[in-house]
This record gives sequence, structure tokens and C-alpha cells, in this order.
Amino acid sequence: MASVLHKLVLPVLVLFCCLFSCVPQCANAHPLKICKFDQIYQLGDSISDTGNLIREIPIGAATAFARLPYGETFFKNATGRCSNGLLMIDYIAMAAGLPFLPPYKNLDAADFEHGVNFAVAGSTALPSQVLAAQHIFSPVTTSSLNVQLHWMFTHFTSICLNSRDCAEKLQNALFMVGEIGGNDYNYAIFQGKTMEELRSMVPDVVATIVDAARKVIEVGGKRVVIPGNFPIGCLPIYKTAFQTNISAAYDKNHCLKHLNDFAKYHNKELQNAIHTLKQEKPNAVIVYGDYYNAYQFLLRVATSRGFERERACCGTGGKYNFNMTTMCGGAGAKVCSNPERYMSWDGVHLTQQGYKIMVAWLVNNIFPHLLCHI
Ligand SMILES: *[C@@H]1O[C@H](CO)[C@@H](O)[C@H](O)[C@H]1NC(C)=O
Ligand SMILES: *[C@@H]1O[C@H](CO)[C@@H](O)[C@H](O)[C@H]1NC(C)=O
Ligand SMILES: *[C@@H]1O[C@H](CO)[C@@H](O)[C@H](O)[C@H]1NC(C)=O
Repeated sequence: MASVLHKLVLPVLVLFCCLFSCVPQCANAHPLKICKFDQIYQLGDSISDTGNLIREIPIGAATAFARLPYGETFFKNATGRCSNGLLMIDYIAMAAGLPFLPPYKNLDAADFEHGVNFAVAGSTALPSQVLAAQHIFSPVTTSSLNVQLHWMFTHFTSICLNSRDCAEKLQNALFMVGEIGGNDYNYAIFQGKTMEELRSMVPDVVATIVDAARKVIEVGGKRVVIPGNFPIGCLPIYKTAFQTNISAAYDKNHCLKHLNDFAKYHNKELQNAIHTLKQEKPNAVIVYGDYYNAYQFLLRVATSRGFERERACCGTGGKYNFNMTTMCGGAGAKVCSNPERYMSWDGVHLTQQGYKIMVAWLVNNIFPHLLCHI
């Protein structure tokens, strides 16, 4: 009975409370605390980077993510997070009762006791050289998933005496392997590849993500979340680039169907590969992170609360307030005065508010599958 309560009733109650702020310290009541995670490790891209890219010289440090208005809402300064404030990983850490993850590249202030964030904005799942061989160029970083894994194993070598010690140290850690792979497709499509060519990349991208999860498990990871892709056809960057007068190209949320179908295809392949990995690694708990449906939930909440669902908060105009030529942080970009009522921050990344609402759904969706109550 108690476990049924934890599994079903409590998450629903907490979700309700978090969304409608009926308890002041909502995060403190979160069922994710039942897991008693002592560390979180994150691999990924701009969805989760808390400050690695801006510490890469010279390109990363020169990106707009290193300057205001990025970070204006929560930190009142840029931290390297690609949003006005907190990211999903920040809300997940809070829900687990842990501090925000320090970026691996912040060697000065680093306290890695409760985990490390290896995610780099702009990074890809496939190694940049592999993409380059297919004439897909990575414009901001070459710190792809294999590089991030290398950093992670270097870090573990520094904290573990041997492999048994590592397995012991990591037994209560949560690993987030992604979201990653979104940029492989972003770069491909904006560098002229066709949808057919994008589809042909999916098996390699998925295999690379799942192989990273396998390596994490082999070094001692017990609980691994592997997130899927967003419904990219809902993002202003894609809606601007593929704008059309053909109304049948859009779904009921005014998202581009062919792009959402592609994201669904990637996600389906990823879930199939996760299923196979689970059979291969029966002692690990491997959970799919359903960002696609978390975003659909955000769309519903945004509709009911009357949020701006089409336009980015920060941009230089156009139907969706997005222009690839001059993006948020560039000359002439304006920032909305009420980002808490927008879903999209800069046309590519969400606002803190958007991420917060997605996590309220996501954490309750993954919690029962993490099997923390047993
Ligand atoms: C703001 O962040 C930048 C790095 O992004 C840092 O150099 C600067 O010292 C910070 N300013 C304040 C007031 O914290
Ligand atoms: C859509 O239709 C309007 C008016 O008919 C036209 O001005 C515009 O160029 C069209 N846009 C696209 C993307 O086809
Ligand atoms: C983007 O900005 C450029 C120059 O500022 C302009 O020529 C172009 O029409 C804009 N594109 C859109 C989609 O608004």
C-alpha cells in the first residue's frame, strides 16, 4: 500500500502542487528525494550545459551565452546556461535535494562532491570528425559525446582507487545521458541535408548515445536516464526556416508536422535501442526521458495560462521573433519584459519557466521507472 502511494498518489499530488504553487517549498516535497541520489552526472548539449562552452577559448567564450541577457532572470548574470535562468538539470538537481551541477571546465570553483556537468552547448552525439566526413560542420565546439565521456572517465580515475571502488562510489548516482543528438540533425538540416539524409543518420546517432550509456553502466552507473529529442517542429528556429502557407503542414499546436515526425522517429529508435540495452544490462535501471511529451504537457499548460507560444522572448523580429542572421544577444536584439509568460527564450532554447514546467511532468514520469522505492 505504501509503495502504491509513493508510485501513484504522491507524484500526482506533488505535480499538482508544483504546478499551482500550493506549497511554498515545492521542491522539498518531491518524490525524487526518495531515491537518495548523492551525485548527478550529466552528458549533453545546450539543453543542459551549465558553463562548459563559455570556458572554451576562443569560440565558446565569444558566444552570446557568455553575456547578458542570458542568465538575466535567475543569476542576474551569464553563467553559460542557454536560457534566461535555470535549466531542466537544475530543476532535477533541486528535486533530488542536490546542489546545481558544477560545469567540469570550471576548475577554480569546482566542488564535484555531488556530481559534475560535462554537457557542452553546441555539441553532437557523433564525433565532429565523423560528421565532418559527411560534410557536416560543427560550428561552435568539437567536444562531442566521446570527448565528454573521456572527461568523465578521467574524472572517475581521479576519484576512484580501482573499478570496484568506482562501482561503490557511483551506486547512488544518477546519470543523464543526453539530451544529445539534436545538434547532429540541426547542423545537417541547416547545412542543406534533406530529410531523407537526416533519417539515414538516426541509426548511428542512436547507437552512439546508447553506447555512451553502456559505458556509463560498465564503469558503475546504476541509474541512467536517456532523454529523447524535443518536438523540433515547434521551435521558432525551425518554424522560421521552414515557414509555409500550406496549413496542412502544421499540427493543431501550429508545429511543423514533418519535423515533429522526424523527432518521433529518432525517439522511437532510441527507445528500441534502450529496450535492447536493458536486456543486456539487467542490473542497471535505464529509463527513457520523454522530453517530447514533457514539451506537449508544457504546450497544454502554456495554453491554459495564456503564455506566448509562438514568439521567442529574445530576438530581432520576424513572425516568431527569430532571425538566424542576428539572434538573441546580437546587435538589435530585444528581450521581452515578461519571460515567465514565454515558452521560448531565444528561438532555440526554452525559458526557465518552460523548463520548470517540463521537469514537473518529466520527473513524475520517470520517477516510478527509477525503482527507488525498492
Ligand atoms: C558575470 O559573469 C561573468 C562570466 O560570464 C564574470 O566574468 C563576471 O565576473 C560576472 N559578474 C558578476 C557581477 O558576477
Ligand atoms: C504566404 O502568402 C503571403 C500572401 O499571399 C505571401 O506574401 C508570402 O510570401 C507567402 N509566404 C510563404 C512562405 O510562402
Ligand atoms: C533577418 O534579418 C535580415 C537582416 O537583418 C533580414 O534581411 C531578413 O529579412 C530577416 N529575416 C527574417 C525571416 O525576418
